[in-house]
Amino acid sequence: MPEPETLLSYIMKEIACPKDLAGKKVLVTAGPTQESIDPVRYITNHSSGKMGYALAKMAMLRGADVTLVSGRTALEAPLFVKTVPVVTAREMYEAVTSVSGEQDIIIKAAAVADYRPKTVSEEKVKKSDDQMSIELERTDDILKYLGEHRHPGQFLCGFSMETQNMIGNSRAKLEKKHLDMVAANNVKVDGAGFQGDTNILTLITQDEEVSLPLMSKEDAASKILDKILSLMTKEEEAAR
Ligand code: CTP
Repeated sequence: MPEPETLLSYIMKEIACPKDLAGKKVLVTAGPTQESIDPVRYITNHSSGKMGYALAKMAMLRGADVTLVSGRTALEAPLFVKTVPVVTAREMYEAVTSVSGEQDIIIKAAAVADYRPKTVSEEKVKKSDDQMSIELERTDDILKYLGEHRHPGQFLCGFSMETQNMIGNSRAKLEKKHLDMVAANNVKVDGAGFQGDTNILTLITQDEEVSLPLMSKEDAASKILDKILSLMTKEEEAAR
């Protein structure tokens, strides 16, 4: 007999939401990447993965066929979602680009390292009395690659975490990475950002900026999916 929680998940999958994403393939990325320095240490960030996991869960409840490419998090893999675990930015790039062509919607909530150590020491680096520095090299920008290789009708949503000039910096990412939407937040604002269960997002598209109030990450995920669906429907109608 399955656990009551599992049973409830099966029931919720059927009845929780209208299946307005049925027939759509959705790829979500979540969590941080980790870039090794040596066998003991790595460079990472504070991402908990909660926003991406909420997006994967809500898209699944709305009937989508969901793939979640996730960096290491403390979260349980959502049921009824194909979860692909990765560690590094390189692994995330491989996992995402190997399936991106077949996706209708891609939402990149992961906090991908922009730099990794140029060399990874095979042995633990020992301390000395001197200062030390680590040479870093750029990782591939996965979202930029997706923007440059998208197929017609595919929707691309990025995330942008800023501490200043949130709208301007996020809009620049929308343009530079050829995205349909950026979900932006200011990590310095209470209730927004990595670790908590809430977020305060601004959804930025070519034509508008929609500021959402403080809400749970699951509700924020639903708002993002609502917006994506309405923009895709508009686009489809315009193409007819
Ligand atoms: N991203 C990515 N690959 C990277 C870096 C970022 O796909 N190597 C994606 C993230 O998943 C996110 C978006 O790009 O959806 C924004 O990431 P961010 O790091 O905030 O923006 P950058 O464009 O890298 O700019 P900066 O770090 O200078 O703010």
